[in-house]
Amino acid sequence: MRIAICPGSFDPVTLGHLDIISRSAKLFDKVYVAVLKNSSKKPLFSVEKRIELLERCITDLPNVEVITFSGLLVDCAKENDAIAIVKGLRAVTDFEYEFQMALINKKLNREVETLFLNTNAKYMYLSSSIVKEVARNGGDISDFVHPAVIDDIKNAIDATDNR
Ligand code: PNS
Repeated sequence: MRIAICPGSFDPVTLGHLDIISRSAKLFDKVYVAVLKNSSKKPLFSVEKRIELLERCITDLPNVEVITFSGLLVDCAKENDAIAIVKGLRAVTDFEYEFQMALINKKLNREVETLFLNTNAKYMYLSSSIVKEVARNGGDISDFVHPAVIDDIKNAIDATDNR
C-alpha cells in the first residue's frame, strides 16, 4: 500500500488545499492529512476545529484521513508508513522555502520523498491568510473555501473581532 502525507496548518482549509489533497488521493492508496499541532503562528482555529473542518470537506474521499502531528514531519511520515510528503506549489515565491524544507526532510530521513504538485491555476493566489483577510473585511469567501466551512470561518472571525 502506497501512503502519502499532506502536511500543513490548515487554518483554515482552503480549496487550494483540497485540490492538492484530492489529487494526492488519486495517486496514493492512502493519504494522511497531517495538521501541525504546535505552530508558532497564532491560529484562528484550534487544532480540533481545524480537523473538524477538514473532515467535513473530505467526505467524498474514502482513502483520506486527518491526523495531527507535533515534532518533525518526517517522524510523522515514518510512524504512518508514508513514502512521500505531498505539497502544493503555488508560485516561485513558494519554491525557495519548500525546496529548503524538502532538502532538510531528505537529510533527516532519506526514505521519505517530497513530491510537489503544481497548484491549479484557479488557486494560484489562494492561502489561508488571504481567506482570513478577506473574511475579516467582510468579503465573499465562497470562491476560496468549501461551502461546508464558510459559516464557521465567518463566525470565528466575528468572535475574534468582538473580543
Ligand atoms: O501550512 P503550512 O503552515 O505552510 O505548513 C508547514 C508545515 C506544517 C508543513 C511545516 O511547518 C512542518 O513540516 N513542520 C513540522 C516541523 C518540521 O518537520 N520541519 C522541517 C524540518 S526542520
